[in-house]
Amino acid sequence: MWTSNDIVDQTGRIVIVTGANSGIGYETALALFKAGAHVVLATRDAAKSSDALNLIQASGGKGTLETGLLDLASLSGVEAFTDLIKQKYERLDLLINNAGVMTPPESKTADGFELQFGVNFLGHFALTAQLYPLLKKSPAARVVTLSSGAHKLVQQIDFENLRSEKSYDANREYAISKLAGLEFTLELQRRILKAGDSIISTAAHPGVTQTDLSRHMSEQDYNAALAQFKELMPAWQGALPTLFAATSPTVTGGSYYGPDGENELYGYPALAQISNAARNVADATKLWNFAESVIRSKFLV
Ligand SMILES: NC(=O)c1ccc[n+]([C@@H]2O[C@H](COP(=O)([O-])OP(=O)(O)OC[C@H]3O[C@@H](n4cnc5c(N)ncnc54)[C@H](OP(=O)(O)O)[C@@H]3O)[C@@H](O)[C@H]2O)c1
Repeated sequence: MWTSNDIVDQTGRIVIVTGANSGIGYETALALFKAGAHVVLATRDAAKSSDALNLIQASGGKGTLETGLLDLASLSGVEAFTDLIKQKYERLDLLINNAGVMTPPESKTADGFELQFGVNFLGHFALTAQLYPLLKKSPAARVVTLSSGAHKLVQQIDFENLRSEKSYDANREYAISKLAGLEFTLELQRRILKAGDSIISTAAHPGVTQTDLSRHMSEQDYNAALAQFKELMPAWQGALPTLFAATSPTVTGGSYYGPDGENELYGYPALAQISNAARNVADATKLWNFAESVIRSKFLV
């Protein structure tokens, strides 16, 4: 079984982890720091960010750390973050699109999109598009996007409801945001190949892992989920599929990793199942065109 002890040396690699103050993002940043990377903890809250930095620093890794303010619920917030990164760095080796929100009460991003679609997918689409020129300058860049087994719960994105124009169903919108993330991963890889670039776009999911992601669940729903899943993995273990996707020399573009146990809920990194809906090229093209229109910029045409 693959663990964080198997991470190849990351010395010299410049890494951005979104949502690095909590759960899987925190454990991902910690492991990459221990392996020698320079890790930018991209978070939306300065106090939480510096707490995370201090804790990771105290663990005694051989990498380096910095914090960067990133609010994925605002496209101008994403641009402010990428402007700073572009001023500071000439290349980026690894982008981990990890931050996420699950089943909040109905709410919107600053740009008026349903919050989960806006943060989990659109914000990361904008982030990746704006950082792509830096990724291109790395000899071995990767983009890892976090999806979820929940991506299998929906078959299609309803483009007429991305601002909750018709209705809001918290679980459905979470699943849609995770289907979008996986469609994005595969479409990004197709466009990378077409452009002749050498970047790898891959995805991961952490099965069922104990984190703050459940913060918006009612006690009743949380207890029902606990009864269904029997156990939750600790965050360090939930981070392993992400870390494998981010660092293993065996990873190829367009792949998806999750835990190897029953129904991909628990265990150690292995290839995970991608739904037919996520593999639909026409749907992914439509999503890409839509996202480009939202960010008002072409990305890997
Ligand atoms: N835990 C699981 O079982 C599970 C299963 C499948 C997929 N996932 C995916 O794994 C990823 C990590 O989640 P987690 O379980 O580690 O949950 P978590 O502990 O709640 O971490 C989520 C992170 O996302 C950040 N975030 C939320 N909204 C943001 C915004 N607008 N701008 C920037 N950052 C924002 C949070 O920041 P704050 O702390 O400031 O809110 C936090 O750092 C998510 O993409 C999630 O969908 C998790």
